[in-house]
Amino acid sequence: MVGAGCRDVLLTGGAGYIGAHCAALLASEGYRVTVFDNLERGYRQAIQRASMVSGKPIELIVGDVRDMESLRGAFAQGDFHAVVHLAALKSVEESIQEPERYQHTNVMGTENLCAAMEEFGVFRLVFSSSAAVYGDCGSDLATESTPLRPLSPYGQSKVDAEERIERFVSRTGAAAVSLRYFNPVGAHPSASLGECSDGPTNLIPVVMDVVLGNRRSLDVFGRDYPTRDGTCIRDYIHIMDLVVAHRSALDHTTHMDGAKAYNVGTGRGSSVLEVVDRAREVTQRVVPTRDAARRDGDPVMLVADVSRIEADLGWVATQDLKSMIRSEWAWRRAWPDGYASSRETSAAPR
Ligand code: UD1
Repeated sequence: MVGAGCRDVLLTGGAGYIGAHCAALLASEGYRVTVFDNLERGYRQAIQRASMVSGKPIELIVGDVRDMESLRGAFAQGDFHAVVHLAALKSVEESIQEPERYQHTNVMGTENLCAAMEEFGVFRLVFSSSAAVYGDCGSDLATESTPLRPLSPYGQSKVDAEERIERFVSRTGAAAVSLRYFNPVGAHPSASLGECSDGPTNLIPVVMDVVLGNRRSLDVFGRDYPTRDGTCIRDYIHIMDLVVAHRSALDHTTHMDGAKAYNVGTGRGSSVLEVVDRAREVTQRVVPTRDAARRDGDPVMLVADVSRIEADLGWVATQDLKSMIRSEWAWRRAWPDGYASSRETSAAPR
């Protein structure tokens, strides 16, 4: 059901992993979705497939949040009630090498978007933030009031973008929700949409590469952490649960004021070795591992306290680690080359 007054949505970054799932869900629930994406890291095919699985048209405007004119052009083309802003760079490692690029795209891009929203009178916003804003919480769950001490320029760019949104809200009276994602994984139940990246670095996509024989083994980054089995603990969240949280947040903006941040996780942590065990169970294949040094900037444990989102938005995560891995496995087997697969019948990728 579409929330009152929220039917037409501009979705920045809608050709990416989270964006395409979000586009599919919103379109299938009756929202009119227009994607705004520069296709630098996103895929046209992702939108075509999102449209296919939802049975609804999804328009694509190729444009860049760093460019005010292309933003103005997008707003001039539609009569949007709300914006879901996902367009950003998201690699921790890359952000350490190119911090200015992260400030430019993630922070200035958000500032530009807010300015364009103000100019065109659009005052509802859902923003893609990250658990990377917290840094190391020791063995405590991260609550939304945990101090923000990011360990990377990527995390800092999300803190800064949230702050730009707060300024926009206090200047204009807009309503904005920042969703702080923990570790999104998995794929669409149709197995036609999923994460697509050359040389993935995140744990579960790497484990899938090992299972598929694209890599010999998984490097386990650190076996001597103060956790139950010595490996780091994360809160993995199914992509479909995550996009449902966007829909709930979007509807929430119609009857709230101000800026609010919410953790989006399951509230349960899994260690690296537990992920490997579940992957063996699901795929019935071997997953060779190799002990490796700790990775710089890795917090020992990052698990969400989800009481705020459950209370305010009535949202709860429904899928466990096993179903996340099962759906990731289904996607990777169905489309081993992602959107660039030779089985693709439509236009060439990007
Ligand atoms: C990081 C960011 C997160 C971002 C995500 C996607 C932080 C705190 N988190 O998540 O905001 O959205 O990347 O880019 O900055 N691991 C291995 N071997 C591997 C890969 C990973 O042992 O080959 C371990 C890591 O040490 C970590 C866990 O698996 O303990 C999860 O790693 P990863 O999937 O990369 O996610 P985060 O680093 O938690």
